[in-house]
Amino acid sequence: MAKHHVCPVWVGYLLASPLRKLLQNPKKILSLYIKEGMKVLDIGSAMGFFSLPLAKMVGSEGKVICVDLQEKMTKALEKRAHKAGVLNRIETRLCNENSLGLDDLNEEIDFALAFAIVHEVPDANSFFFELYQAIKPSGKVLVAEPKGRISENDFNKSVSISEQNGFKVIERPGIGRSHSVVLYK
Ligand SMILES: C[S@@+](CC[C@H](N)C(=O)[O-])C[C@H]1O[C@@H](n2cnc3c(N)ncnc32)[C@H](O)[C@@H]1O
Repeated sequence: MAKHHVCPVWVGYLLASPLRKLLQNPKKILSLYIKEGMKVLDIGSAMGFFSLPLAKMVGSEGKVICVDLQEKMTKALEKRAHKAGVLNRIETRLCNENSLGLDDLNEEIDFALAFAIVHEVPDANSFFFELYQAIKPSGKVLVAEPKGRISENDFNKSVSISEQNGFKVIERPGIGRSHSVVLYK
């Protein structure tokens, strides 16, 4: 079977650039969904472009669980979180290609972000199945995929798979150069 494309570590550095905020501003994109004290998941977090702002938004009582496949990404994220003074609100987890390793989070997550990750996952069905188990009833998931790389048709196929796993589509927010959807459990 063909191996899935996984974002290289050097691209991780580009994705963490502050210049990206001009196109995709984490505060503007996420503040509608995040409240202080929430337990949040950032899947395919890379070096934490979204995880660090999320950690600020959830406050000292909140938590951001950052899951990634590559240790170089999670290590760089930890360094950046330490620098930003939010390491104590962040938990990094290494997963494998076939499982996000969320078994212990049964219905504990208020909000999950899956930004530019679904197209890198070998099995979208098991991805949304695992995610559904981890999300609280009435919790939300923001899924975004890059427009240059993913067609609208392929994005809609992923959305259908999420619906087959129990999610409901509640919003199609406008995010720079992205297909995006908010899912509700
Ligand atoms: C294109 S990057 C997006 C990073 C981040 N969400 C952002 O928007 O800045 C995709 C990330 O997902 C990770 N990844 C790829 N396949 C994965 C999988 N099966 N499970 C978890 N993470 C994965 C990669 O290591 C990479 O850090």
